[in-house]
Parts: sequence; C-alpha cells; structure tokens
Amino acid sequence: MIPLRHPAREKFFHCVEKMLGFFHGVENPGRTQARLRAVRAPPATAMKIGIDLISFHTPSYYLDLRTLAEKRGVDPDKFVIGIGQERMAVVPPDQDIVTLAANAALPIVEKAGRENIELLIFATESGVDQSKAAACFCHRLLGLPAACRCIEVKEACYGATASLRMAAAMVAARPHTRALILAADIARYDLASPGEPTQGAGAVAMLVATRPRVLALDPETGFYTEDIMDFWRPNYREEAFVDGKYSTRMYLTTLIEAWNSYKAASGRGLADHAHYCFHLPFTKIARKSFERLCKADGIELPPKPEIERLLDAGLLYNRQTGNTYAACVYESLCSLLDNAPAALDDQRLGLFSYGSGCMAEFFSGIVQRGHREHLFTDQHRAQLDTRVPVTYRQYEDIFNYGVPKDGADHVFAPYRGGPFRLAGIKDHKRRYEAK
Ligand code: COA
Repeated sequence: MIPLRHPAREKFFHCVEKMLGFFHGVENPGRTQARLRAVRAPPATAMKIGIDLISFHTPSYYLDLRTLAEKRGVDPDKFVIGIGQERMAVVPPDQDIVTLAANAALPIVEKAGRENIELLIFATESGVDQSKAAACFCHRLLGLPAACRCIEVKEACYGATASLRMAAAMVAARPHTRALILAADIARYDLASPGEPTQGAGAVAMLVATRPRVLALDPETGFYTEDIMDFWRPNYREEAFVDGKYSTRMYLTTLIEAWNSYKAASGRGLADHAHYCFHLPFTKIARKSFERLCKADGIELPPKPEIERLLDAGLLYNRQTGNTYAACVYESLCSLLDNAPAALDDQRLGLFSYGSGCMAEFFSGIVQRGHREHLFTDQHRAQLDTRVPVTYRQYEDIFNYGVPKDGADHVFAPYRGGPFRLAGIKDHKRRYEAK
C-alpha cells in the first residue's frame, strides 16, 4: 500500500488536480467558492483544443408559426417578432434523438475518419431509455471503434457544454485521441400552452480534438448553478412543465453571474468578442441577453445595425427550427459560422449556455484561420431549404402519435429524413436502420 505522503501519491493527485482544473475552470479546485467559479489564462504555450468539426441536423418537416397563430387566435407578429420564431421543426414518427444525432454526426465521421475517437457523449433531455445511453445506439450506427467510452449526460439544455469541457479534459490528457459530442432534443410543451410556439427539434455533432480546425476553446470560463424549478419534466410526462416568465428571468440573471465570473477570469469585456451565440429557447432572447450584458457593464446600447451585426447571423437557423434544447447554442454557432457575411478567422466569439434547473456558463473561443473550408454549410442550407410544411392537422396528429406504452411491437412507415431512421420496436427494443 502506498503511504499517505508518498511522492507517487502526491504526483497522482497533482495530475488529477490539473485535469480538474481544466474541466472546472479553476486553478485550485480545493479553494473555489461554492457558487461562482473562474479560471486564469494558462501560459501562452498551452495546446489548442476545441471544435474540430461541427454539423447540424433537423427533421425534414416544419410547421409555419403563422399557421399556428391563426389556429390559436393570436397575432402572428407575437410569434414572428415578439419571440422571434418563424417555423418549428416537426419530428416524424420514424425519427428520434438517436437518429437526429446520428444524422448530424455522419458527415463528420465520413470526413474526419473514426480512428482514435475514444469518447462519445450524448447530451439530451429527451432520452429514449432510462438505462441504456443513446450514445450506444449511435456508436453502432456510426461504426465507431470498440475502444470508445459511450455515455449520456443530462442537465436540461446545458448538457452539451458540460460534455464539451469533459471532452476537452480527456483530449488534454491524451492529445492523440478525439471525442465526439452529440446534442439532440425534441422540445415538447402542451398544445395551446405559452411554450407551444417555441417547440422544435434538432441535433448538433461536434468533434473535439487538439489543433481544432473550427474553434479553439479559451480555457477561461465562468459558471454558476442554483437549485430552482423553472422548467422540468417528471419521468411520467411527455411534455415539460415550464414557468416561462420565471425561466426567462433566471436565464438573464444567471447570464450576468456567469459573465461576471468569466470577466474576472479572463480580464475581457464586451468589446473583446466579435460575435455572441446564446442559448436560444426563442431567438428574441439573444437581444434581451445582449441588452442585459450592456446594462451590467454600464455600456450604452450600440445602434441597432451594430446589434444586428453582433447577433443576427447566429439566429437564422434557430428561427427556422425552434428550440433544440441541448443543441441550441451550438446550432446558433453553426448558423453564425455558416452565415457570417465574411470569414471570422482569428475572431473571438462569446458563448452562453443555460440549462434550466439551473446551470449557466459563459465561455469563449477563437475561430480558426481557414475554418470555412471545414464547415458543412451547403448541407445545412440544403436541409433547411428542402423541408416540407405540414398543416395544422398533420402537426397535431404527429404530436399525438406516441410510441405505444403497452410494450407492443411497432413498425414505422418511412418518412423523409436523413440516412438513419427508427424502423420499429420489437420485444421492447428499438430497431434503428440505415436507409
Ligand atoms: N406583436 C409583436 N410582439 C408581440 C405581440 C404582437 N402582436 N404580442 C406580444 N408580443 C411580444 C410581447 O411584448 C413579448 O415581448 P417582450 O418579452 O419583449 O416584452 C413577447 O411577444 C412574448 O409575449 P408574452 O405575452 O410575454 O408571451 P407568453 O406569455 O405567451 O410567453 C414565453 C412567452 C417565452 C415565456 C413562452 O413562450 C414560454 O414559456 N416559453 C418556453 C420556456 C422558455 O422559453 N424559457 C426561457 C428560458 S430557457
């Protein structure tokens, strides 16, 4: 047995502390404040780690929110202008979070290969099984190596950000390895509830590696947590409960907590970020968030065109899909990278991730030179451009079409969608197939 103060034991704990420091964003994890954490910049020689490739996928059907407004007897401008949403993705019965995520990830593994992917994390709050990780289904569909850890994580819409930090910690410890992060969700609220027009669905896949081709993560980060009930979905419910006004208030409050922590850690201010990507339950919240940041820093709000320049390219996709929960802020990142009027080489982006319940994190990264050659812009645009509208009746039918809960076998008719689909359920087992 190794004695308590043996050098080997000291060395082991030193390594663990270093890893935790990267993951938690603290210099000394033992001396952090309980509620607010921050980290100082590492030496300039630190290895670059971040998003090597990023890809987005959304279902092939949508409901126009003007159609929904008419049915609900609401002025369409409330949805289109008031909350900033135009369309919501509608998920056909043969798609779920597993197929959405696998569809998002396939272009990445086809382009970057599968070797050395040693970690697959699936972030979702729409899990299909209480025991088996959705990552295990995707592992087979994507043909990943057997030597790969597969897990599922949950903290409302924040899970992918925690996953990104865990992946970065693994890659820092084993720089020859890579990690694949999948974030996929189907946002469902009760019909005719205030949350209904913010529903949506989609997935983002991100490959995390050293010398990333798209976004190098800054190590400084600010994060904040508090036990609240603003949005939750008990195991016996298909639809979430949400106190929308309270949730929005807490989103904005925790944004400032995380921002102050990030600022203290990095020494950066608002002017140090070329663009911002926020968690987007509805796109109007981006403007509210930016206004709140300006107010917190005592800075006069820039003129409207400047705010649009900072935010709008990052809102285009989310306006068209609705809320994608865990994938939201990374969908916004795809939208920004694909639609920025000019290449963002060497520019620093500010990102804010919020998960109800709640967890908030403000972090940043530098867009890598030549990143445009490594984006999936054409595929993303083609997907959105070729979606098929559904009528209100079709939307409601699909909403009410649940997978049987009596354990009966089930076969799903093929619908439009990506390369993977849910073919059916047999003996309580989901059967996925490639088309
Ligand atoms: N034209 C233009 N704007 C209009 C309008 C019209 N005819 N009618 C209303 N609006 C505006 C309102 O002024 C309001 O804007 P503001 O917030 O800037 O003041 C906005 O549209 C929404 O109206 P509101 O009456 O507040 O909507 P609501 O009570 O139906 O609820 C949410 C809105 C976001 C709270 C609701 O969609 C929700 O619960 N969403 C799900 C949870 C969520 O998104 N949480 C956020 C944190 S993760």
